Amino acid sequence: MAISQYIPSTNRYSGGMKYRRCGKSGILLPEISLGLWHNFGKSKSHAECAEIIHHAFDNGITHFDLANNYGPPYGAAEENFGNIMKTSLHPFRDELFISTKAGYDMWEGPYGNWGSRKYLIASLNQSLKRMNLEYVDLFYIHRYDPITPLEETLQTLVDIVKQGKALYIGISRWPHEATDFAYKYLRERDVPCLIFQGRYNIFDREPEESGVMQQAHDNGAGFISFSPLAQGLLTNKYLQGIPDNSRIANGGHLKKDSLTETTLKRIKALNDIADSRGQSLAEMSLAWILNNKLITSVIVGASSTTQLSQNLKAIDSMPFSEEELEKINVACSLI
Ligand SMILES: NC(=O)c1ccc[n+]([C@@H]2O[C@H](COP(=O)([O-])OP(=O)(O)OC[C@H]3O[C@@H](n4cnc5c(N)ncnc54)[C@H](OP(=O)(O)O)[C@@H]3O)[C@@H](O)[C@H]2O)c1
Repeated sequence: MAISQYIPSTNRYSGGMKYRRCGKSGILLPEISLGLWHNFGKSKSHAECAEIIHHAFDNGITHFDLANNYGPPYGAAEENFGNIMKTSLHPFRDELFISTKAGYDMWEGPYGNWGSRKYLIASLNQSLKRMNLEYVDLFYIHRYDPITPLEETLQTLVDIVKQGKALYIGISRWPHEATDFAYKYLRERDVPCLIFQGRYNIFDREPEESGVMQQAHDNGAGFISFSPLAQGLLTNKYLQGIPDNSRIANGGHLKKDSLTETTLKRIKALNDIADSRGQSLAEMSLAWILNNKLITSVIVGASSTTQLSQNLKAIDSMPFSEEELEKINVACSLI
C-alpha cells in the first residue's frame, strides 16, 4: 500500500494501550511513547520511518518525542517526521501529541545553542517548518544553561505558549534547585510545567535517588523516562557480542566502552530474571519502569517494528514480586 493511502488501525485505542494522566494536567499520555533521537535520520528512507511511526500509531502510541538536533544530521528527524505528517498523518493531527526541544548546539554562531530567547524562538520556528506543523503540543528546554538568566529562558517558554506555538512546556535534564525555581516561575505565570524528562532505567535511577521524580509529582508535573532500555543495553541485543546492525556498531551515542565485562554480567543476570518471568529483557525493563507510579510514560527508541512490538508487550506485564525486585537490585550490583 502506498504511504499516502495509510489508514490507521481502527483498533488503535482498543488494542491494549494504557494512558496515564500527566501530573495534574488534562493530558493523558500513552504508557509507551516513541522517540526519534536515533533511527529517523537522513540515511533512513521515508518508507522505513513511516513504517515504524505508523506501527506506533496503530498500537495507540499518540506521543512522539523529537528535538531540533535529532538526526543525523541535525534537523533530519524533524524533516522525516514532517514528511510523514504531510503525506499520511495530517488528518490525525488532533490525535497526536508531538514534542520537540531546543537547548543543544544546532547552528553555528552565538545564537544557535543554550537557553537565550533568540535561540529558543528561532529554533522552534525552524522546527515547526521542518515538521509541517502550526504548533507543537509540547516544547522542552532540552538542557540547563548555567549562564543565561533563568528568567530569560523561562519567560521565553511562557511567551511561546502565549503565542500558540506550543500548548505546553517541559523541562529536560535540569538540576533540582533550578527546576524548583522553574516550577514556581511558570506556575505564577499560568503556564505550569507539564512534564520533566529525565533518563531513568534499571541501570540509572538518578531521578529517583535525587528526588527529581518526586519533585515533579509534588509540583503537579509528570515524569517521562528517556533511554528506558539504556540505549539497547537492557535488551538481549548484546548478549552474544556486538551485532552489525546495532547502535554501538553504527556509531550512535552508545559507545563500545559502555559494554564492560561487569555490565555484560549484569545484563545476563537480568536476562535470566526476565526469562524466569517468561518475558524478554526489553519487556521486563520497561515494565520495571512502569511499575513506578510516579512515571507518566517511557519514551522508547526502536530501529524496527519488531522491536516496537516487543516493547509494547510491557504494558500487559504481570506485576513484580518483592523477591523479583530484590533479585533485579542484586543483578545491578554484580561486579
Ligand atoms: N531529553 C534528552 O536529553 C534525551 C536524551 C536521550 C533520549 N531522549 C529521548 O528518548 C528517546 C529514547 O531514547 P533511546 O533511543 O536511547 O531509548 P532506548 O529505548 O533506551 O534505546 C533504543 C534502542 O534500543 C534498541 N532496542 C529497542 N527495543 C529493542 C528490543 N525490543 N530488542 C532489542 N533492542 C532494542 C534499539 O537499538 P538498535 O539501534 O541497536 O537496534 C533502539 O534504537 C529518544 O528517541 C528521545 O526521544 C531524550
